[in-house]
Amino acid sequence: MKRHEHRAETEAVRGGEDLGKKNAPLATPIYQTSTFQVTDTDQQLRATHTDMFYTRYGNPTHTVAEAAIAELEGADAALLFASGMAAITTPVLALLKNGDHIVAQRDVYGGASKFLGQWLPKLGIETTFVDTTEYEQHARAIRPNTKMLYLESPTNPTLRVVDLKKVAALAKQHNLISFIDSTFATPINVRPAEFGIDLVMHSGTKYFGGHSDLIAGIVAGQRELIDKIHESRTTLGSCMDPHAAFLLLRGIKTLAVRVQRQNENTLRIAEFLAAHPKVKRVHYPFLKGHPQRGLAMEQMAGGGGVLSFEVDGTGEDARHLAEALNLFTLAPSLGGVDSLVTIPVLTSHAMISAEMRQKMGVTEQLIRLSVGIESVEDLIADLERALAMVSANRQHAQVG
Ligand SMILES: Cc1ncc(COP(=O)(O)O)c(C=O)c1O
Repeated sequence: MKRHEHRAETEAVRGGEDLGKKNAPLATPIYQTSTFQVTDTDQQLRATHTDMFYTRYGNPTHTVAEAAIAELEGADAALLFASGMAAITTPVLALLKNGDHIVAQRDVYGGASKFLGQWLPKLGIETTFVDTTEYEQHARAIRPNTKMLYLESPTNPTLRVVDLKKVAALAKQHNLISFIDSTFATPINVRPAEFGIDLVMHSGTKYFGGHSDLIAGIVAGQRELIDKIHESRTTLGSCMDPHAAFLLLRGIKTLAVRVQRQNENTLRIAEFLAAHPKVKRVHYPFLKGHPQRGLAMEQMAGGGGVLSFEVDGTGEDARHLAEALNLFTLAPSLGGVDSLVTIPVLTSHAMISAEMRQKMGVTEQLIRLSVGIESVEDLIADLERALAMVSANRQHAQVG
């Protein structure tokens, strides 16, 4: 973990920049080039290990974004990837080999669950899934060949919160690499490196980008691990395009203000839904009654911009409700300035088995909201209207 020179709000705007006075563009230029020319062959050799050799190896626009992210996470270094999934698959492929074993939480993003449970066995790497917050199960699942503890907090879509100190200590005790998907938290709400987690990943597509206009992945962590992952990123070609790096960097500048507003809006909406008679259950870390609320409030600066809730009705009612909303656009993904709504069994968790979904509590009635930065009063009015419409339709159907 590195010491922070500035607070997160300042790091988001100025991180990765040289603050010295100079004549230069204020915005980071986009080095939209695949390759870099050199004057002679000696310089060609020297360029190989820099960000001005060939863009699959690195690029100056990437370098600024990577430095900003490392500062925000309090990590030695960071790397950009073509997508969040590339930021999950590349480190695992870089650090593990045939015969190795992973212990992973059961509640992880559907794509990660598929990669760990269905794809890695083809390479002879096995994963044991354990109940997310049952830490004795994590410990019992560790074998002599276990190399990694794979984590996500808060989880998608049921917003469980993992005790970062506990899992980091467990990983250290057994000499495992702790690898966390911190997409839902963002470094504005929690910095897992400060709790001793080795590698922190994000789908940069979400809060870092912040405008639902790019696909991006991020990994931050210890220098030695990052160097190995960098080598594999070059081999696997899971690198980001420079224009996407520019958009990501622009998004990072407003990360702190967006997330702070999203924290406030989402807590208000969670409280509204929890009090509504047509809502059976609300999942949100800072909401009274959440099973890990105490831990969440200790570990996080805010509960984040995502919540999920179960409609008191059928899967069909949940789908009608999602369709009836106007200000929450029906679309997968999260973390942007525009509010979105999705039904996880149809989108983020469609690719995993019904049995696994049941264990995770991902039901047909579950609706996930990604809350944006609009007026919270308008968002609540939209939800109130849609909930009333669904219950009116149900009564009508019963009478008919
Ligand atoms: C928590 C989480 N991790 C990882 C991913 C994968 O990211 P990407 O879609 O950028 O590949 C997602 C995507 O929805 C996600 O929600």
